[in-house]
Amino acid sequence: SNPSILILPGDGIGPEVMTQVRRIIDWFGEKRGLVFDVSEDLVGGAAYDAHGTPLTDETMAKAQAVDAVLLGAVGGPKYDVLDFSVKPERGLLRLRKEMDLYANLRPAQCFDALADFSSLKTEVVSGLDIVIVRELTSGIYFGEPRGIIEEGNERVGINTQRYTESEIDRVARSAFELAMRRDKKLCSMEKANVMESGVLWRQVVTEVGKDYPEVELTHMYADAGAMQLTRWPKQFDVIVTDNLFGDMLSDLAAMLTGSLGMLPSASLGAPMANGRPKALYEPVHGSAPDIAGQGKANPIACILSFAMALRYSFDAGEEADRLEASIETVLAEGLRTPDLLGEEGVAPVTTEGMGDAILAALEAS
Ligand code: NAI
Ligand code: MG
Repeated sequence: SNPSILILPGDGIGPEVMTQVRRIIDWFGEKRGLVFDVSEDLVGGAAYDAHGTPLTDETMAKAQAVDAVLLGAVGGPKYDVLDFSVKPERGLLRLRKEMDLYANLRPAQCFDALADFSSLKTEVVSGLDIVIVRELTSGIYFGEPRGIIEEGNERVGINTQRYTESEIDRVARSAFELAMRRDKKLCSMEKANVMESGVLWRQVVTEVGKDYPEVELTHMYADAGAMQLTRWPKQFDVIVTDNLFGDMLSDLAAMLTGSLGMLPSASLGAPMANGRPKALYEPVHGSAPDIAGQGKANPIACILSFAMALRYSFDAGEEADRLEASIETVLAEGLRTPDLLGEEGVAPVTTEGMGDAILAALEAS
C-alpha cells in the first residue's frame, strides 16, 4: 500500500500554508509516481470549535497509525480565554506526548538567495545545512525534585537535570541514523566538565557510536558549541544535545538563516514496524494571527517540513533535494513573500503565488 500522511492544518495561517503543501504532495503523486494516502483532520482551535476538544481520540488514533503527520499551526487570540485543559496547544502537546516524540530536529539551512538576510556574514552562512537534534521529553524541564521551597529564612528554586541511560541511548540513535543519511558527522554537546548528567551523556553517546562506525563522532562542551555555531557553523553536520541546551542552541541556529517563515522541524519517536520512526513534521512558526486570511503567509517553512518528511520518513532524499532546489530557484528569481522583503522596490507575492512558482520550478526540474 501507499505510504500514509495525516495532515492537520490547524488554525490561522496553518490551513493557508498547508493548501500549498497539498498541491506539492499531489504533484509528487502525479508527476513522480510518489503516491501518498493523504487524510486530513482537525487540531487545535479548529478541533475545539467542531468537537469541544483540541484533539479527538479518533484523530489521535489516526496519528498513531500513519507513516507521518504533517501539522500547520495551532492557536489564536480567539482561544486565549479557554481553560488550559482545552487550549489549542494541548492538541499539539498530546500528539507529542502520546506518540512519544523524543527527538526534535531543527535544521538550519541557508538558501543562498537569502544569505544577506542573516545577521552573520554571507560567507559564514552561505551553503549552510546543519541539523540540531534536541532531546525533547526529559532533562531539567521534567526532572524531580522540582519546586520552590523554604530553606532557613529564604526561598529556594529547584530543578533537577536527570537523564537515564535509555533516554540518552534512544535520542543518540535518532541522531546517528540521521547522520547516516547526511554527511556522517555527529557532534554531541553537553557539559561533562561540570555536570554528572553530561558525563553519562558522553559515555552513552560514545557507546551507541560503536554501532555506527561510519559516523565521525566528536564531543564539545555546549558553551563552546554556541561559540562555534556563530563563528563557523559549516564545521557541523548533525548536532545532538539535551533538552535545555537544545532549546537554546536550536533558537541560535535558527537565527543563522533568517525568517521564521523559512524554518521547518521534525519530531521523531521510536522506530515503527517498518523501521521508520514515528514522526510529526511542522513549521517552527505559529498561527500568525496578525497576517492570517490575507494571503501574506510564507508557505516555505511548511513545504520544507514536507521535504523533511520525504527525506526522513519516506526514503525519498532525491525528491527532497528536488523540492529544496525548486525553492532555491524561486528565491534566486527574486520571489518574496512579505516576510522576506528587505530592499525597497520588490513587489511581494502571495502565499498562493509562492506555491505556483515552486510548482512551476518543480515542473521544470
Ligand atoms: P507566530 O510564529 O505565529 O508569529 C510571529 C511573527 O512571525 C508574526 O509577526 C507573524 O506574522 C510572523 N510569521 C510567522 N510565520 C510566518 C510565515 N509563515 N510567513 C510570514 N510571517 C510569519 O508566533 P506568535 O505571534 O507568538 O503566536 C501566534 C499564535 O500561534 C499564538 O496563539 C501561539 O500560541 C501560537 N503558536 C503556535 C505554535 C505551533 O503551532 N507550533 C508555535 C508558536 C506559536
Ligand atoms: Mg525555545
